[in-house]
Amino acid sequence: MDLSTRYLGLALRNPLVAAASPLSRTVEGVRRLADAGVGAVVLYSLFEEQLMREAQRNAALTEHGSQSYAESLSYFPERAAEDHGPRRYLSLLERAARVVPIPVIGSLNGVTPGGWTGHARSMQDAGAAAIELNIYFLPGDPHISGRDVEQRHLDVLARVKDAVTVPVVVKISPYFSSVAEMALRLDEAGADGLVLFNRFLQPGIDCETRTVVPDIQLSTAAESRLPLTWISLLRGRIDAALAGSGGVEDGADVVGYLLAGADVVQSASALLRHGPEYAAVLLDTLCQWMRRKEYRGVDEFRGLLAVPPGANGTSRGRDDYVSALRDADTRAYGIL
Ligand SMILES: Cc1cc2nc3c(=O)[nH]c(=O)nc-3n(C[C@H](O)[C@H](O)[C@H](O)COP(=O)(O)O)c2cc1C
Repeated sequence: MDLSTRYLGLALRNPLVAAASPLSRTVEGVRRLADAGVGAVVLYSLFEEQLMREAQRNAALTEHGSQSYAESLSYFPERAAEDHGPRRYLSLLERAARVVPIPVIGSLNGVTPGGWTGHARSMQDAGAAAIELNIYFLPGDPHISGRDVEQRHLDVLARVKDAVTVPVVVKISPYFSSVAEMALRLDEAGADGLVLFNRFLQPGIDCETRTVVPDIQLSTAAESRLPLTWISLLRGRIDAALAGSGGVEDGADVVGYLLAGADVVQSASALLRHGPEYAAVLLDTLCQWMRRKEYRGVDEFRGLLAVPPGANGTSRGRDDYVSALRDADTRAYGIL
């Protein structure tokens, strides 16, 4: 069975990618994911805020330039205590890239096109096979226009593309007025790939304590429907590679993403829920399905259910919606 896949110009042994998550916080975690068979690992994200904090501390340390590094730490004890995010991250990346036989992708999470984007270069130097940019921007200010939000994405991408030579992937949210146009603009601006989609933190409310609960929930299988829709519409319409992210719970979900046209399929929640070794189960189900359907390679069926590039994606979306509602009506009449 040939699962080999090209993603961002990289040769992967299969299309299953471990999405950014706490599973990749240690070399051992990355190694377990690789041993379970994934084709590549995206490290958890390094945040713009961490990088900005480091820049401020470095500036303050320079002001105390006469002291040695150790002496300076006494002014900034938290620096010693934290083992500093960026340095720890780069060290992890370097060691992980050295010990696993698969590409390790660095992840940057931010939203402003500031100097922090230069850290993409450090990731490349530390061995990152590519950089995934998680542009996590919730425009909470009602005066920010949709066009501004889009421009931010393009600006951040441009800065990172300037800084590195490895491929750059943009992980976007589904909250654009025209997801396809945003994808096209990112493609034209040089994005080598797009991850569809990022999830925004959606805090809950604890009625008893009357507090906001900002916890991250693991996803459910239903969450794959939205990225599947957009991947099937974008396949063949842009050059950037497409990574499906969201709601992979079993091997059938991996197959679904590939049929829709994803180049690779990312998984975080399922691997957190069942352990990194669950990647082997997902891959085994993919292989069994391919055997049953008599496919020898993933390229034989990838994009089989994509909306053909010549078709009208807008009316196709509407037609599907209308027929789905009709079907729902029929079922409801059966009950009522
Ligand atoms: C606990 C947790 C931590 C995550 N951390 C990151 C992160 O650091 N950077 C990132 O880009 N995405 C992060 N994600 C998002 C995942 O990479 C993924 O895009 C999302 O969970 C949808 O995929 P899934 O349904 O397979 O979980 C995280 C998700 C979870 C559940």
